[in-house]
Amino acid sequence: MRRILVIGSCGQIGTELVPALREKYGNDNVIATGRRTPPPKILKEGGPFIYLDALEIDALKKVLYEYEIDTIFHMASILSATGEKMPQTAWNININGLINVLETSRSYKIKNVIWPSSIAAFGPTTPRDNTPNTTILEPTTMYGITKVAGELLAEYYYKKYGLDTRSMRLPGIISSETLPGGGTTDYAVEIFYEAIKKKQYTCFLKEDTYLPMMYMPDCNKCMIDLLEADNLKLKRRVYNVTGISFSAGEIAAEIKKHIPEFQIDYEPDFRQEIADSWPKSIDDSLAREEWNWDPSYDLASMTKDMIEKLSKRL
Ligand code: SER
Repeated sequence: MRRILVIGSCGQIGTELVPALREKYGNDNVIATGRRTPPPKILKEGGPFIYLDALEIDALKKVLYEYEIDTIFHMASILSATGEKMPQTAWNININGLINVLETSRSYKIKNVIWPSSIAAFGPTTPRDNTPNTTILEPTTMYGITKVAGELLAEYYYKKYGLDTRSMRLPGIISSETLPGGGTTDYAVEIFYEAIKKKQYTCFLKEDTYLPMMYMPDCNKCMIDLLEADNLKLKRRVYNVTGISFSAGEIAAEIKKHIPEFQIDYEPDFRQEIADSWPKSIDDSLAREEWNWDPSYDLASMTKDMIEKLSKRL
């Protein structure tokens, strides 16, 4: 049985990843951590929760030792839009946090480190349709720069020290438990809350903006499947993964099928330029070949499930 540490577990992905990991590996074997945010009930009551700042390397070492950790999910990160408002902080948290995790993992003989990269690793010079795994990585956001540097760093630790690092380039994640904070793909989550509460949403991206996305249950599956993949079958450390690609107009039309009164208008802001620098769709065939990546949700089934879940709660 694994002993798993989830760093940054109060964020959008962590709050749903931790319960999924606890279900698979046992409540007490999954230690959830957060830096500042008080943990949601689901994290605190479901198993151990502690405060931990990945920038404090001694605190990190102590936790690895005391909890006999052998697997780390490093989820703490400043996302793309916030990163443009405070690029130096984004660099500090994203890169210094990561190297602390890699360094301590190396010395404490951690079995696996899962660290998500992002579609933000791509940039305006990358082919935007069906973007391949190996391609041009020239991002123009600080978030993207930290993802490219992080990918190289994680790969370096694998080659130089044999630390088993694994990364997936996540697209926008759509989830119902915790709102994302400070990303460019956040509109695809906000739109559901506003459609249910106000029947109206003002989108910060243009109607025809296509971005790759993934529904949270597929994201959990992606994390666990890559963690459990046979290392002999993995020919690289970083994988493109995707679920669904749609435009803002298309998701609005899908929501209207369930909430006919729903109205949307578009007021693009600085995030439009970020979105325009990212792929519209992703080629994830290598993930499919090497570790059987196979997402379940399409636009229709994701929309239906989101509306059902959120309508009950809101
Ligand atoms: N969801 C992220 C963002 O929009 C992309 O990885 O910043």
